[in-house]
Order: sequence, then C-alpha cells, then structure tokens
Amino acid sequence: MQNTTSSGARVNGTRLWSRLMAMAKIGATAQGGCNRQALTEGDLEGRELFRRWAEAAACSVRVDAIGNLFAHRPGRNDTLPVVMTGSHLDTQPTGGKFDGVYGVLAGLEVIESLNDRSLTTTHPIEVAVWCNEEGCRFPAAMMGSAVWSGRMSLESAYALTDRDGRSVGQELERWGVKSSAVTRQRVKAAFEAHIEQGPVLEQRGKNIGIVTGVQHMSRHEAVVLGQEAHAGPTPMDLRRDPVRVLAEALPAMYAAAARHGRDARLTVAVIETRPASPNTVPGFLRFFVDLRHPDTAQYRSLREEVESLVSAAIAKHGLKGEIRCVWQAPGVVFDPGCVAAVRNAAAALECDAMEMVSGAGHDSVNVAAIAPTAMIFVPCAGGLSHNEAESATPADLERGANVLLQAMLSTAA
Ligand code: GLV
Ligand code: MN
Ligand code: MN
Repeated sequence: MQNTTSSGARVNGTRLWSRLMAMAKIGATAQGGCNRQALTEGDLEGRELFRRWAEAAACSVRVDAIGNLFAHRPGRNDTLPVVMTGSHLDTQPTGGKFDGVYGVLAGLEVIESLNDRSLTTTHPIEVAVWCNEEGCRFPAAMMGSAVWSGRMSLESAYALTDRDGRSVGQELERWGVKSSAVTRQRVKAAFEAHIEQGPVLEQRGKNIGIVTGVQHMSRHEAVVLGQEAHAGPTPMDLRRDPVRVLAEALPAMYAAAARHGRDARLTVAVIETRPASPNTVPGFLRFFVDLRHPDTAQYRSLREEVESLVSAAIAKHGLKGEIRCVWQAPGVVFDPGCVAAVRNAAAALECDAMEMVSGAGHDSVNVAAIAPTAMIFVPCAGGLSHNEAESATPADLERGANVLLQAMLSTAA
C-alpha cells in the first residue's frame, strides 16, 4: 500500500535512472559521455524531451526571454511564491551523463512522486532548466540564471558569441526558443541537487553533501600581439613571439597557485595562436585562465598576482597585450534555513552526510541572489566530472533525490 503522508513519500529511483539514461542518448558520444552544448540541436532535443515529460506529469511549461524553461506544478494556493529546484541540460563538449541533468530530472522526479501519491503542497513547485550553465560554447557560465536574477543584462547575454561568431540572440531566434517574458516569478526557496564533481564525499565515505556555499571563481582572457615571421630565417632575438609570454607566465602562475594553498585552483585550458602554422612564428596569442578559491582574501590575492605576472611578462618581451577578467561569480554562502532543510531531510533519511563548499559553479549561485537557496551533492566515481566517464550509482542518485523531495516538501508544505 502506498504511503500517503508527505514524510513517507519517496522518489522512484528506477524511473529517475531510466530518464537519466534516456536523456544521455541525446548527444551521446562514442566514449559514453554527452555533447549537448548550449543551444545546439542536442540541447534543444533534450529540452523538448524534458518538456514532454513535464507536460505528461501535468505541469505547465513556459520559457523566458533568455531560454530558461520552467515546469510548474500548482500549489493549493497557486498565487504563493514557488519552491524551486532544477539545474541544466547543456553539457561540456566531452561532458558526462549527470552534470546538471541529474538536478533537472531529480526535480521532475519530486513532482512525479507527489503525483504518484496525489500529494499537494501549499506552495507551487517549479523545476527550472537554466540555459547555458556550462559557458563553454558561449563564454559566460551560469548565463540563464544570471539574466533571470538580474546579474547580467539580457542584451549582453544575447551578444555572447561562439567561436563561429553565432550569437546567443541569433541561436535563440533560429531555434524559436525564447519568449518575450522578462518578469521573474516569486521564489520562496530554491534547492539544487547535483553530483559533487569532486572526490571529497567518496574519499570520506559519505553519501550526501549538505552544500553550505560555493567558492569564488573568475575567468580571465589574455591576448598578446607579436609579429608573424618565418620560422627558419628569423633569428630568435629578432622575433616578436607572443608564446614567450606563455612560456614565462605559465610556471609563474602555477607557482602562485601553489603559494595560495591546496584550496587554490588555476586552469589554463584554452591556448590559441594565429595563424597556427607550424613554420610561422605566431603573431597572436590568446589564452584563458580560470581561477577559484573559497577564501576571499586568498582569491583576491591570487587574481592580482596572476594578472600582474601576465602583464609583467608582456612588458618584459616588449609586446602589446593585456589580461582582463571576462567573467566572475563571487562566492556565495547559502541560506541557513535552506541548509537546515537539507540537513534535516538527510538526517530523517538516515544519510551519512557532511557539510561542504562547492568547488564548481552552479545556477544556485545566481538564484541565491534572489531567494533563500541551498544545494545537495551526491558522490560521483573518482570525483570525475567534465569527463565522458563521469559516473554515479543509482542508489546515490535516488538518495539525493529523496533528500531533495523531503527538503522541498518541508518548505512547500
Ligand atoms: C561549471 O561547470 C563550472 O565551471 O564550475
Ligand atoms: Mn553542472
Ligand atoms: Mn559542468
């Protein structure tokens, strides 16, 4: 017999897993991962699949002006602020099956489980699918939630371009995705379930992370101009080679990161030269530096040091260029009430939980600027994420979704 009390409500882990696997077929890669970069055909197909599932679960679905999608389950008093959950369906170019997708489908599973038991809540419930969380195709991570929260203007989001020069605005038009809606719904509280994307839960033998905040992070673009020249006849001392800057700045930046302790993160993942011909000294260099730290003072000093190291290397080699911050997300401390709701849910479900700060960026960073917010982490194998081999167990995913369900029920009552 089905339990009809809200505290006894549980998600259907089999349905959640089968939907994760169905979504993973869209944009599936040969190595078992997913490539559904924002506003590509795969991303659109994934969103449509979610829409069909949400409508079949009696939700109304709407899309806003930046392509965020919201599935709404009415509350007993539908004029009250919503209790929100959700995440993203877009992926990295070599992404996994769970990053973002889990938070969206765990949210849908909350709704399905309430439907299964004919349970209603006073507050409406919404599942958000935020547009372009990854920021890999269009260079601003957490874009949809940033626009929704008012932290980024609609115009600057529309103007972001991919490497082929296509803009977010053009792609939203081309796919017929966006609406003209710019009003933001009122939100009582928000919760996001996500795989941890790091090794801590697994290493400590825990199965739930109660996420108390997210660390500081920023992205910096360095551009250095040199002079194209022949790789053979041009003596080394007569070249204006921008790669010299990289050769000098890279070891200095890694040393700076090491000086800022084990919590510091520095990633140089995009390095481009032009014309990129093996026998031409490049005339142009561009690279990106991703910086993160949970401690405000350490983060600021790491940023300053990296910027001055790159500027000094440019000056030393007599080249023109600069490094500038192109994206940042200041760290967030989540709402104590929402964190407590997660903690209580985890305790009621007898989880082996620990409190932690997120190393990865999440849409919750932006949502937290508008409404009380917290997150729930589940372990992923080897802490691996942004990798086609990303994996998590059905049991851990089900447990996290049950924590989400109970935290949301206690808030939406
Ligand atoms: C989002 O995936 C991030 O870069 O943390
Ligand atoms: Mn994610
Ligand atoms: Mn990601």
